[in-house]
Amino acid sequence: MKYQSQRVAYYFFALSMLLFSLQIVYGFIMAFAHAGYDVLHDWFPFHTARTSHQNLLVMWMLSGFMGSAYYIIPEESERELVSVKLAYVQLISFALVGVSALIGFHFNWWEGRKFLEIPRPLDYLVVINVLLFIYLIGATIWKGKRHTTTAIVLFFALLCAALLYLPGMIHSDNQTMDSYWRWWVVHLWVEGVWELIMGAILSYLLIKLTGVDREVIEKWLYIIVGFTFLSGVLGTGHHYYFIGTPSYWLWIGGVFSALEPLAFLGMAVYAIAMAKKGGRNHPNKIALTWTVGCSIMSFVGAGFLGFAHTWPQVNKWTHGTLVTAMHGHLAFWGAYAMLILAIIAYTLPLLTGRKLYNSFSSVYAFWASNIGMVSMTVAFGIAGVTQVYLERKSGMDFLAVQKEIEVHFYGLILAATFFTTGVIAFIYTFIKSGLPRGELNSSE
Ligand code: HEM
Ligand code: HEM
Ligand SMILES: [Fe+2]
Repeated sequence: MKYQSQRVAYYFFALSMLLFSLQIVYGFIMAFAHAGYDVLHDWFPFHTARTSHQNLLVMWMLSGFMGSAYYIIPEESERELVSVKLAYVQLISFALVGVSALIGFHFNWWEGRKFLEIPRPLDYLVVINVLLFIYLIGATIWKGKRHTTTAIVLFFALLCAALLYLPGMIHSDNQTMDSYWRWWVVHLWVEGVWELIMGAILSYLLIKLTGVDREVIEKWLYIIVGFTFLSGVLGTGHHYYFIGTPSYWLWIGGVFSALEPLAFLGMAVYAIAMAKKGGRNHPNKIALTWTVGCSIMSFVGAGFLGFAHTWPQVNKWTHGTLVTAMHGHLAFWGAYAMLILAIIAYTLPLLTGRKLYNSFSSVYAFWASNIGMVSMTVAFGIAGVTQVYLERKSGMDFLAVQKEIEVHFYGLILAATFFTTGVIAFIYTFIKSGLPRGELNSSE
């Protein structure tokens, strides 16, 4: 850590880990419900658990991205954050809005649009909060001594993510229009600007961990930005196949989204190549493992499994089934969860001064969570394909099919338990590292 104000990142990461733990609790409630044990139904009906699971996911990832920016930007700009006090105000208000939304979901205060369930009054508070965040990051870069490609890409990606929240607030009583705008947020986030956030954070981590020249790494970043724009924007069409939009989306969506894996493949090749090329033997090996692992698993979860159901000819069968959940889990895990865990693994020893990166718990965390998540993906996949055959090919009733596939959720629960032991090990390492009392060091 080179600047005092980078400590703010620690508290964003801590909030992130807290929300992540809660997300998992709701995952288990749903997995048990799917297995036929909906025992908590009176307190946490399925829709409440699902909404909480998904929104907690988005919240912990945003908190992780914000923490990453507060850590990376001072260092890249070679100056302290413009205001540490305001950064804490932003953290606390973000947490308050998140907790209010979560409590609201349990009293049916929600909008009922998957991923954008946060009720409208809270949306406005989110906008104000994010504006404050963008100001703090932007002003730090503006006043900084250095303007690196990594910092600029990170800033513009965060700014675009903030702007793309707005189409989700366009009101329409027409279901097609409502769905149309919803995808501007959901798709253009995860397959657009979040991908750029990922490219920038990966680039920062690779510069630090491999010692390869910034110029080389940042050239790759340009290529990734290019691939992402080329495919991701019109790729939105893969959500417009069957919602009442014109039929030209069938081929636009099909062709462009089929190109999307290229950006993820680019990131995987780039991370592996840089890690191989890197002459510097960084002691924090597990951080590099998370970084390279993220680039590979995002290609598998987002690129490969996304491609598997992106053509309209396939999607007409799999749309909205557990095949989507299969892809959703590994994509979010590989691309964004692992990215945040990678930056935490890298920054935590620097923030706290305690170097636990070679400990059993930090290595176990990586392997158990990844093996667990891949197994969960397989369980969702088998349940999903069975669902498609029984429900859509044989025409069985939806609920009758759900009964038939209950058995696959025993496997899911087993896999999720193993996954959770890995997450517990990660959080244990986080807590054991202590508070951010690390010394300033200008040579990191
Ligand atoms: C990190 C990047 C990605 C993440 C986090 C992600 C996550 C998700 C999630 C959560 C959904 C369900 C959305 C909803 O129903 O509201 C979804 C749907 C979908 N994704 Fe991805 N995805 C990513 C990348 C990709 C890529 C690269 C492709 C194609 C090559 C793809 C193809 C699809 C398709 C076709 C659907 C619609 C499924 C349906 O019709 O039910 N995704 N994705
Ligand atoms: C113990 C761990 C977990 C369990 C048991 C679990 C279980 C579930 C279940 C049962 C669903 C609902 C599927 C449905 O009926 O539609 C779901 C949805 C979802 N979960 Fe998880 N989950 C876990 C962890 C995670 C993690 C770590 C992530 C992200 C990295 C994640 C992301 C999602 C997403 C994006 C959806 C929506 C899927 C879709 O669009 O179809 N979950 N989860
Ligand atoms: Fe998409």
